[in-house]
Amino acid sequence: MSTKRVSIGAGELNVVDQGSGMPLLLVHGFPLDHTMWRRQIDALSDVCRVIVPDQRGFGQSGAVESLSMEGMADDLAALLDALGVAEPMVYCGLSMGGYIAWQFVKRHGDRLAKLILCDTRAAADSEEARKNRYATAEKVLEQGSAVVAAGMLPKLFADSTVAQQPDIVEQTKQVIENTAPTTVAAALHAMAARIDATSMLPDVAVATLLVCGEHDALTPAAEMRQIAAAMPSAQYVEIADAGHMAPLEKPQPVNDAIRSFLAD
Ligand code: MLT
Repeated sequence: MSTKRVSIGAGELNVVDQGSGMPLLLVHGFPLDHTMWRRQIDALSDVCRVIVPDQRGFGQSGAVESLSMEGMADDLAALLDALGVAEPMVYCGLSMGGYIAWQFVKRHGDRLAKLILCDTRAAADSEEARKNRYATAEKVLEQGSAVVAAGMLPKLFADSTVAQQPDIVEQTKQVIENTAPTTVAAALHAMAARIDATSMLPDVAVATLLVCGEHDALTPAAEMRQIAAAMPSAQYVEIADAGHMAPLEKPQPVNDAIRSFLAD
């Protein structure tokens, strides 16, 4: 899985760009990097051009002090420009990658052929969730990103994944701990400030696939089902025995769902 550096305006992103055909942009969650999609990259690049960035601040794309869902959506559009992607493309985002998707739809929706939303939500944070994010951001700036790894890891994976695939749990922990505290804090603030996309749903007419792990403890399957029901052209696939990181935990059924959605 080789990466390259791509200039976008004032910054540079670290990106996997593999395969040819319909561009498929895979947008990672918080506070992760492109490696969370490693079980999709080879598996899908025979049918599409798989583009997988480390978003600004994450992975090998350098640390930042401030982020917004709007800015991250604009970064992705700039990345597509820099890679010469002018044709219709497929946006696929997990969790925070889904929050960014709502802004991508608003700001760059004319680029979309199809949309894939994994383990995410449309609603904004509750007031309590916002307060927790601000408190966590402060703690991370004082104590480092291990604080977030410790808080999130128990909620990211299904019990069966923890028992049977401890390697992916450990690798995810490393990625979170290696994310710069300033980036983690900036992303927490950006997620707290994100819009409530619920009222947009009836107007998002693009063909959409929603995927969620049966045991997702962070963005529950019941909420994903409601999103699918509110969108005019959406289909929902639940991944048995998976948690919030369904594409990493259970790649085969996720990849099958994506392949058949792309072929439709
Ligand atoms: C993610 O996986 O991106 C986060 O869990 C999203 C969130 O904290 O709301």
